[in-house]
Amino acid sequence: MKYDFTYYNPTRIHFGKEAMSKLADELQNFGDNILLLYGKNSIKKIGLYDSVTAILKECGKNVTELSGIKPNPAYSQVLEGAKLCRENRIDLILAVGGGSVIDCAKAISVSAYAKGDPWQRYWIDFESVDNDVIPVGTILTMTGTASEMNGGSVITNEELTLKTGRVFPPSVYPKFSILNPELTYTVPKIQMVSGIFDIMSHLMEQYFSGDDDNTTDYVIEGVMHSLINSARKAVADPYDYEARSNIMWCATIGLNRITGLSKTQDWEVHNIEHQLGAYTDCPHGLGLSVISMPYYRYIYKYGIDKFVRYAINVWGVNPEDKTKDEIALEGIDRLQEFSKEIGIPQTLRELGCTENMLRKIADTSILGGGYKQLDYDEIYNILKECY
Ligand code: NZQ
Ligand code: ZN
Repeated sequence: MKYDFTYYNPTRIHFGKEAMSKLADELQNFGDNILLLYGKNSIKKIGLYDSVTAILKECGKNVTELSGIKPNPAYSQVLEGAKLCRENRIDLILAVGGGSVIDCAKAISVSAYAKGDPWQRYWIDFESVDNDVIPVGTILTMTGTASEMNGGSVITNEELTLKTGRVFPPSVYPKFSILNPELTYTVPKIQMVSGIFDIMSHLMEQYFSGDDDNTTDYVIEGVMHSLINSARKAVADPYDYEARSNIMWCATIGLNRITGLSKTQDWEVHNIEHQLGAYTDCPHGLGLSVISMPYYRYIYKYGIDKFVRYAINVWGVNPEDKTKDEIALEGIDRLQEFSKEIGIPQTLRELGCTENMLRKIADTSILGGGYKQLDYDEIYNILKECY
């Protein structure tokens, strides 16, 4: 393990079909005033709203609601939530939904009592959090981001057309997360495959870095195998509990820092995709898939041994009589075939991106730290490749 690290993750996970039975116990640990945060209609459609509000009532909680948190959550909604928290002296933010609702909950948590402008301080200047944070608990309904067990909070400032992510310290991680794979059965197929590719991308962004022999890379390869295997099964049968539960756990461990330990990491694909999201509002994982293909075909030569290892160990590419370039490119081809097989669109155009957005997306993307440091023209060329 090349780099020193400290690992601490304070989120208590309740996983499985009966996980919701732990909610009442968790609620005992917090005061009476709860902000119930959720998205548009899905939690009402699946009956989850009724069961959660019934438990809150039985536990004698005072509930304030904020609904309509949009996919790619907006900073204006963060400010609205922060105001509600102050006015109602909120003791716990209970986020019920996917990554967007949970990211928004963390953003509200740090912003409610922030001194000064939270956007500037926490998402632009990346200052450390020096104010009280409101505890967050989550009930996960859509899997992919791992927001349920990390400090990530990706927020879109609509006025500035800027989407930017921040990883907060463990004091901001959810205190508990309830993960019942059955709650994901109703996620529309396109969102499910978006989540699946998001997981794959998190694993790749961590894997494609360094040239040392690191236990973390072996862990990542194992998680990738499980993900690919279960993704195929879940696409064939969305009610396959074994597959859905494996995907859910792949997602959580894929970005709760375990699969990034002692690694430099890349994150360039995410940085570009976040700006694509700011312009198009497309599902995060779909944008990642489209951008990944030309990106990896462009940078693989700068980390060729790792791409060869990926092709052989993850996709089973036969290396016999092939050059390193051929093996590496075959691995990326297999990734793209997998993306097509599970039903992901392959062009930016299909995600609502127009030609005049390409330059703006390129020029506002944050530059990452992969095998090849890109400049804005290189990002533009990558976007043109997949347009
Ligand atoms: O709004 P509702 O009606 O709830 O519908 C949602 C939403 O439209 C729907 N949905 C969720 N659970 C459902 C369901 N529909 C039916 N049945 C259910 N059980 O799914 C749609 C998408 O939800 P969203 O929360 O936006 O998806 P996801 O979990 O992919 O989150 C994406 C956001 O997370 C950020 C992304 O950038 C994006 O803004 N990320 C957060 C990260 C983190 N915290 O570490 C890292 C990631 O790389 C990512 O950037
Ligand atoms: Zn992601």
